[in-house]
Amino acid sequence: MSNWTDVAAEAELFEGAGIAVTPLDQDIAIFKMEDGVFAINNVCSHGNAKLCDGFVDGHHVECPFHQALFDVRDGSVGCGPATEPAKSWPVKIENGRVLLDLAA
Ligand code: FES
Repeated sequence: MSNWTDVAAEAELFEGAGIAVTPLDQDIAIFKMEDGVFAINNVCSHGNAKLCDGFVDGHHVECPFHQALFDVRDGSVGCGPATEPAKSWPVKIENGRVLLDLAA
């Protein structure tokens, strides 16, 4: 069962950058890319860094602490030192709002 939750206005997003949202006390980073909007866990799986502050290159965000790369589309690790993927959530845009399926 899905649980679509309104987390932000689409207008808050800028292509190639991340923002942080905290629905239900979860720390989630949302990224707007050329081909869609994606959501992954905001806290790096390697340490206490915020991925929403990372440099975005292609579909990857670079952790600001030790430069691990995460694919924002599915949270997979593109380059260490992180080894654990970041959790990702389905995203949809409706009526200018960003919705995440927090039950996924
Ligand atoms: Fe993110 Fe180390 S805290 S790579």
